[in-house]
Amino acid sequence: MTTAPSTISHLRAAGVSLVLELPAHGLPTVLHWGADLGDVSDAEVQALASGAVPLLDNSVDVPVQVSVLPEGSAGWMGTPGLEGHRAGDDWSTLFTDTSYETDAVSRTITARAIDAAAGLALTTELRLTDSGLVMARATLRNTGGGDYALGRLSLALPVPQAATEILDQAGRWAKERVPQRRAITVGTHLRENRRGRTGADAATVLTAGAGGFGFRAGETWGLHVGFSGNHVSALERATNGRTLLWGGELLLPGEVSLAPGEEYATPWLFFAYGDGLDAQATRFHDYLRQRPNHPTSERPVVLNTWEAVYFHHDLPTLLELAERAAEVGVERYVLDDGWFLGRRSDDAGLGDWSVDTDVWPEGLHPLVNRVKQLGMQFGLWFEPEMVNPDSELARAHPEWIMQTGGRMPLEARQQQVLNLGIPEAWEYIRAAISGLVTEYDIDFIKWDHNRDLVDAGSTVTHRAGVHEQTLAVYRLLAALKAEHPRLEIESCSSGGARVDLGVLEHTDRVWASDCIDPLERQQILRWTGQLLPAELIGSHVGSTHSHTTGRTHELSFRAATALFGHFGIEWNIAKITDAERAELAEWVALYKRFRPLLHTGTTVRIDHPVDELWAHGVVAADASEALFCLALLSRPSTWPPGFVRIPGLEADRRYRVSAVGPRAALTTKSNAPSWQGGDGVVLTGRMLAAVGIQAPPLQPEHAALVHIAAE
Ligand code: DGJ
Repeated sequence: MTTAPSTISHLRAAGVSLVLELPAHGLPTVLHWGADLGDVSDAEVQALASGAVPLLDNSVDVPVQVSVLPEGSAGWMGTPGLEGHRAGDDWSTLFTDTSYETDAVSRTITARAIDAAAGLALTTELRLTDSGLVMARATLRNTGGGDYALGRLSLALPVPQAATEILDQAGRWAKERVPQRRAITVGTHLRENRRGRTGADAATVLTAGAGGFGFRAGETWGLHVGFSGNHVSALERATNGRTLLWGGELLLPGEVSLAPGEEYATPWLFFAYGDGLDAQATRFHDYLRQRPNHPTSERPVVLNTWEAVYFHHDLPTLLELAERAAEVGVERYVLDDGWFLGRRSDDAGLGDWSVDTDVWPEGLHPLVNRVKQLGMQFGLWFEPEMVNPDSELARAHPEWIMQTGGRMPLEARQQQVLNLGIPEAWEYIRAAISGLVTEYDIDFIKWDHNRDLVDAGSTVTHRAGVHEQTLAVYRLLAALKAEHPRLEIESCSSGGARVDLGVLEHTDRVWASDCIDPLERQQILRWTGQLLPAELIGSHVGSTHSHTTGRTHELSFRAATALFGHFGIEWNIAKITDAERAELAEWVALYKRFRPLLHTGTTVRIDHPVDELWAHGVVAADASEALFCLALLSRPSTWPPGFVRIPGLEADRRYRVSAVGPRAALTTKSNAPSWQGGDGVVLTGRMLAAVGIQAPPLQPEHAALVHIAAE
C-alpha cells in the first residue's frame, strides 16, 4: 500500500502553475492547477500536499486521493477514470509501483504504473505547454491473459470550489458554437457526443468559472477534448464539493477490446486556465501557433464556388468566376462539390473520385490552367469518408459501407459512410486523391464530412468502428500530407461540425459554418475563437441575401465580419455590379494589409455593458497596433451605447485611433465621433482602457472598424 513517500512537482509556464503529487504507489494527483504560485520553495509546495486532503465524514478511513485517473479503490465515489473488465473480472483497479520520467524542456511528466492483479499497465503523460495549457493523455496496456474489454479511459483535473458557473457550447447545422451557461450544482454536467464526428453541437471548450466571469476577467478552468470521433467532456461536483473536469473518447459497446499485449491511447485532452475567457483562448491560440505544422505563409484570399454555382458546373461560368476573382485580388480558387463522376446533385457519385468527363471533357485542366495562369492556387472539394449508394464504388463494394445487424444504416443526405478501417478501402481513397493532387497540382483540399455515423459497424471486425474510423482518417490525412508536403487541407463537416484539435494536427483551417450571414457569423466566429485563432477559421463574404437565413446585409457588414478569420468570398461575383466588385476589391486589399496583424495578434473580446454592441479585435504581440470591429447586432433599449473601453494596449503609449475600411469615414454624419473623422484622434493606452472611444452611430446589423496605431 502507499507507504513510500511521494514527491512533489511544480511546473510553471505563462502564468500557470501545475503542482503534482507523485506517489511511489499510485497515480499523479493534482494539488493545484491555476494561477502561477510564483517562485516558491520545495518546502512551501510540500505544504500544499500536507494540507490537501482532509478525512471526510462517513467515508473510508483514510483521506480520499483523487488522482488524474480517479479510482473507486481510493474511495472516490464519483465517475472512475477507467471502466472495463476481463470477462467480468478486473473491473476495479489500484495502480501501484509507479515510475516517473520528467522532461524538463517540454515540462512533461510521464508516470508508469501497474495493477498486477488486474493485469493492466497505465501510462499517463501530463505536459504544461509554453502557453500554459495542461495537456494530458493516458495509455492502457493489457498485461494479463485474455481480452480486456475497455469501456472508457478518461482523465480528470480538479477545479476549485471557487468555480460556480459552467459555460460550454452547443449548436446545430448553420448555427454552430452557441454558448450555454448555468450554475454548477452537485452532479455531473455531461456532454456526450455520439455522432461519429466532432459535432456542430460539440462542447468545444467546457469551462468552469468564478461567478460572473467574462472575456477579460474572472478565473476560468476549461477542457477541450482533441478528438474528431465520439467523445465526452464533463464537469462533476461531488457532495463534498470536490469538482473534477474530465473527458476522453466515448467508446461504443465492445468497440475496444485489448488482446494480451495490446494497448489503447486516449486522445490528448487540453486543460486551459485563464483569468477571463480571452486569457484561456490565448493559451489555445499560442499553443497552436507554436506548433511546427502551423501554417506560416500569409493566408490567401479564397474564392469558393459553392454558394456561387452549387452543382451547376459549367466551364465558361467557372472561368468567368476565375477572371473576376483574380481581378478583385483572390489568391486561391476552390472548386467545390459537383466535379466528379455522376455528381449532378447530392444524391449520387460520392466515392467515385474521378473527374466526370460528361461535364469536363478535357478534365479539370482548362479551369486549373487558367486559375494558375491568373496567379491563383487551385483547391478541390472531396468528401473522402462517404459513399452514395448510387455510385460505382458502392455497387462494387457494399461491404465497405459501415453497417451492423445485417442491415444498411439509415441514409443521411442520401449517403453512407465508407469504412476506412478496411485497408483496401483506405488505400483506394488515398490513391484516388493523391493521383488527382499530382495530376492537377492541387494546392488545397476542402475535406468535407456531411453526415453523422449511424450503426457504424465494420463488416470485417463485426464491431463498432467509430474509433478505428477516426484514427484511419487521421492516418489518411497524414499520408496525403507526407506525399504532398505543400498541400493544405480544410476540415469541413456540414459547415463547422469538425472543429477540434485532433483534426487540426493534420489540417490547416476549418470551415466554421455553412451560415455566412454576418449576423450569425459574429457569434460563430466569437465562440470558435475560444479555441482557434483567426488564421485557422475559414470566413467568407457571402451574397447580399444570405442563402441560409434570407437576411440582407450591406457588403461592409459582411466583409468587416469576415475580416477576422481566414478571409474569402463565396458569392457569384460574376453577377454583381462593377461598384460592388470595386468595393469588394477594397475589402480584399484591406484584408491583405491587416492579415499579418490579424493572424499573429492577441484576441480581445470586450465585455461591453450594452449587450447588442459587440466589440472585438486583435492587438499586435508588441502592442504597436490593433484592429477592432464594433458591430451593432440589434437595437439596444438605451441609446447611444456610450464609450467602448479598449483594453490590451500599452498604458503609457500614445496611439492614433481612426476609422478604416471602404466608406469608413462617417464624417458626413454630424453625430459621428471625432475618431471617425479626418486623421482620427490620439489617446494613450491607459485612456483607451479606462475611458475608451465613443461608439459610432451604427444602425443594427452594421459594423465599423477601428484602427489603433502607436504614434
Ligand atoms: C457542406 C459544406 O459545408 C459546404 O460548404 C459545401 O461544401 C457542401 N457540403 C457541398 O456539398
